[in-house]
Amino acid sequence: MRKIIVLLIAALLLPASVYAAGGGSAGADRVDLDVHNRVSLQRGARIFHNYCLSCHSAQYMRYGRMADDLGLPREVVEENLMFTTDSIYDTMTVAMPPEDAEQWYGQAPPDLTLIARSHGPDHIYNFMRSFYRDDERPSGMNNRELSNTSMPHVLVELQGVQEAVYEEVEVNGETEQRFVGFEIVREGSMSPREYDRAMTDLVNYMTYISEPARLKREKLGLWVIIFLAVFTVLAYLLKQEYWKDVH
Ligand code: HEC
Repeated sequence: MRKIIVLLIAALLLPASVYAAGGGSAGADRVDLDVHNRVSLQRGARIFHNYCLSCHSAQYMRYGRMADDLGLPREVVEENLMFTTDSIYDTMTVAMPPEDAEQWYGQAPPDLTLIARSHGPDHIYNFMRSFYRDDERPSGMNNRELSNTSMPHVLVELQGVQEAVYEEVEVNGETEQRFVGFEIVREGSMSPREYDRAMTDLVNYMTYISEPARLKREKLGLWVIIFLAVFTVLAYLLKQEYWKDVH
């Protein structure tokens, strides 16, 4: 009997471990997200709308829905977070025509609505923290997460400029360069800790827009479980009542 119970529990836990192992990306660091943290989402929205929507769209997301989900008054959104349209009922379109963007950057900036789901939050978190000085690139910057990317480091004023540091290691008698980490060579307006926090908020917001229904679904799930628990007790009491006379 005990064996069966252990097997049952193992079978129940198996999908969870498979799920945990899947998804995500091979990025160096993992990002710790909480899409129910409204303050974090609001901070993320501020960065996203100020620094990203000039090149990227998030065309499956509406301003009005975001305002409601984040608990922001519509006037606040209209005044502070809407730069490409006047209507709160609009989707988050981009100011720059994609053809122009392609010509300027060599590659059209992708729509960002679903990117947190398609590329994984960890990848975006690492991407935004991995720009480093590289004088051989036209923009003077390269990126360790997406090598030779055509996206400029748009948050350089916040993060500052960092350089990649390498050390020489012997591998099978040959010297190789191994990446050790980044070193800030020109400070930005944020400390490295503050910048990491800001990127967590940004990725949190991008994860939210990639699946806004998740906020409601997870709340609903809790109610379903509470309902089932209450219902189980009721059903048990009812059973006691019915069987009282039979015993
Ligand atoms: C000046 C224009 C510009 C701005 C502003 C900009 N991007 Fe980009 N972004 C690009 C371009 C161009 C690409 C395509 C890069 C490539 O594939 O090499 C890109 C690609 C990306 C990608 C996909 C990376 C991948 O792995 O394929 C992500 C994620 C991204 N941007 C996030 C952001 C975020 C977040 C912001 C705001 C903080 C932002 N971008 C602001 C131009 C921009």
